[in-house]
Amino acid sequence: MRLIRLQEYETATMELARPIYDKYHRVLLAEGRTIHPAFVQKLQKLNFQYVFVEDSISQGITMEEMIDMPTWIDCITQVQDAFEKVGREGELPLRQLLQTANQLVDEVYSRGAIVLIPVTFLAEELHVYAHSVNVALLSIQLGKKKNYNRVKAGDLALGALVHDLGKVLSKTPDEHPEAGFHYLRGIKEISLMTAHMAFQHHEHEDGSGYPRGVKGPFIHEFAQICGIANLYDHLISENYYPPHIALEFIMTKAGSWFSTELVKLFVQEVPFYPPGTKVKLNTKEEAIVTKIHKNMQRPYVRLIHNNMELALVNNPSIIISKVMVEQEKILNTYLKELGHE
Ligand SMILES: [Fe+2]
Ligand SMILES: [Fe+2]
Repeated sequence: MRLIRLQEYETATMELARPIYDKYHRVLLAEGRTIHPAFVQKLQKLNFQYVFVEDSISQGITMEEMIDMPTWIDCITQVQDAFEKVGREGELPLRQLLQTANQLVDEVYSRGAIVLIPVTFLAEELHVYAHSVNVALLSIQLGKKKNYNRVKAGDLALGALVHDLGKVLSKTPDEHPEAGFHYLRGIKEISLMTAHMAFQHHEHEDGSGYPRGVKGPFIHEFAQICGIANLYDHLISENYYPPHIALEFIMTKAGSWFSTELVKLFVQEVPFYPPGTKVKLNTKEEAIVTKIHKNMQRPYVRLIHNNMELALVNNPSIIISKVMVEQEKILNTYLKELGHE
């Protein structure tokens, strides 16, 4: 299985490895089916951006680092429910959200690494909820790296799930951190640290963030973690950056937007080349990433021309020189945005 942009889809050679869901979380097109070219266009119009496919080069790639699709969808449903309840009745179904937070902690603590599913894999109406779940997954991963116990990781996960709750409580997007914080701090079961994740996730270490422009020592660690996870999910989901470019972008913000220590830990925990990524090596051979093993920058790859598998960690002279995005254009746009061209 591998993840591709919908525009790279080819009906003749690919079938769906995971279903496509509609905005009601119902299966629109099941696993194992192919997508008719006319339907591909329709999906693109609806702003679906990614699909999981199986084709000849993706055989045997299982993506164990990715949360199971039904669990992901279920967590998104719980968050949607909670946000809608707050918007409608002003009431947060806390027990339900705590359960979701703990479920996500279990998911992350039982895996070596986490590969996110971009929120743009789903219908637009679900993006904000899927984003909350993704930010929680990455925040927990970073909390785990910082040796948080499960109780502390649960608090962190809860805060990540509601970090953008202010979006249903405020009139303008700029007001969402404050609106979320004021609402959350009124709930006595929620810790002040957790509420600060909503308040401070857009603040920057150097004081260039918002809403208050507070500096490093005044930004709670939970909120700093949430800020990095938040940016990463936006870059891969909404800006369509491949993970290695998103991580590179985040590294450029070490010491300015984010603490250098947290950025260092983050890039040790998030795979640069998730399984299913097509790459070109410095040997000029093309290969596909098959699995991750500890070192996030040196995965296992399988050579396309002879199916040989190599652990890059044991082959220091072999380097990934390029990520093959089917349409070169896409990659060039990212690089231009980053000023790398
Ligand atoms: Fe936000
Ligand atoms: Fe966010």
